[in-house]
Amino acid sequence: MKIVSIVGTRPQLIKAAALQPVLRTRHEEIFVDTGQHWDESMAGAFLAELGLARPDRRLGLGGGTHADQTAAMLTGLEPILAAEAPDAVRVYGDTNSTLAGVLAAAKLGIPVAHVEAGLRSFDRRMPEEVNRVVADHLATWLLAPTRTAVENLRAEGITRGVTLVGDLMQDLASRVSAEVRDPSVLEGIGERLGVSLTPGGYVFATVHRQENREAAAMAAWAAILSGAASPHRPVIVALHPGTRAAMGRARISCGPDVAIVEPQGYRTSLALQLHAAAVITDSGGVQREAAWLGVPCLVLRESTEWLEAVDDSAGRMVIIGLDRTKAATELTRLAPVPEVARLARERAATLDLPSTGAAHAIVTALEQSPGPQAPCPQSSGESPHPQSPGPQAPGPQAPGESPHAQSPGPQSSGESPHPKLPGKSRDLRPEGAG
Ligand code: UD1
Ligand code: UDP
Repeated sequence: MKIVSIVGTRPQLIKAAALQPVLRTRHEEIFVDTGQHWDESMAGAFLAELGLARPDRRLGLGGGTHADQTAAMLTGLEPILAAEAPDAVRVYGDTNSTLAGVLAAAKLGIPVAHVEAGLRSFDRRMPEEVNRVVADHLATWLLAPTRTAVENLRAEGITRGVTLVGDLMQDLASRVSAEVRDPSVLEGIGERLGVSLTPGGYVFATVHRQENREAAAMAAWAAILSGAASPHRPVIVALHPGTRAAMGRARISCGPDVAIVEPQGYRTSLALQLHAAAVITDSGGVQREAAWLGVPCLVLRESTEWLEAVDDSAGRMVIIGLDRTKAATELTRLAPVPEVARLARERAATLDLPSTGAAHAIVTALEQSPGPQAPCPQSSGESPHPQSPGPQAPGPQAPGESPHAQSPGPQSSGESPHPKLPGKSRDLRPEGAG
């Protein structure tokens, strides 16, 4: 098959690094980078570090409002897709690059494979939620990372073309974690960052969600980070350039024991998480990595798409929103100062993170025709979803009901055209992880 893969942001480059080597053994890939992220530390560095192919096309379309950015990407992608006439377009996740890729392909009648299909926060104030919903309703292959994601799709009437494939990011973390498990890696990182780093002797943080770039939110999480930091336990924040700029505009700063550093490379990010006392983040990827590595994690959001990571964390992952008191209480509970160095050493020494086999499962799914799309649920004359009542549109899930309470099993879409993946563990989460 000829497949156009569209990336644009840091996490998409990371996911592409997990998939590309497998995909290219069997198919022709045209690799297109929208340039949504363009700083060396957000994009270029990952191409080199993760051994990705040089993009065949680079659009350089970062920055601007959501509409500006998406519109420019649509215009940029359309002629490429028309000229290449691929068998499929592959998009990852929920960014504006994802949305533009899906729309451009759908308008040209090119089938779309959506990696990380089915995730929902049920909060349509999030730009990512809008992007995911559109992508999933237009995609032909819906490659879901978790059972909850499969269930979410089913609740929206999407069952055809759905395959539970596992999580590409876990696979990459599995491949690379052995390289960072020795705590001696902290010496070089600490030297480079100008901070003394010991196992359990610091907290690692990242913040970039749109809602956390509002002035009040920035003041709130800056207070949380400052409260977590002390001379004996600094907080290292690898700060997204967009958040850094927003902090500058709002004149928000953190306390003296909070070290704000540039975005780090992938291995450094994994190492800083693995050996930390705890992680504080609003990132979807960092949240999951912390869970897989077994590191306590405080999530600076009111909800998460990664319910399994929370459920499997044995209480080590906590959604704290921007609640400073909760942050302090949970940090004391999860990273007690007298034990934290021992806990961090034990965690690193016993780390055993399996691969989910997602790359192979995705390529296998792509090689099978998903058949015609299931009829639209509306065709029964009844819309399954009420009109949005306001900014916080409810998802299909009933309040108070866990969307994965009735996990249907591995290949949950009753009508899936895809056979089960041969020999693959259906529990995609590592035993005891998180
Ligand atoms: C995007 C995604 C988000 C994802 C995140 C990963 C959307 C709607 N959001 O958010 O889902 O979690 O990427 O990191 O697509 N900037 C730079 N240099 C860069 C990149 C960004 O300075 O290399 C600054 C610019 O001021 C830019 C701002 O960050 O306007 C926001 O960047 P953008 O790509 O629009 O959104 P992210 O916040 O990165
Ligand atoms: N990451 C990184 N360097 C950093 C911060 C994060 O390499 O300084 C990695 C992190 O380990 C994870 C991915 O970036 O693999 C998550 O991407 P991001 O937080 O940008 O986006 P999200 O996952 O929230 O969409």
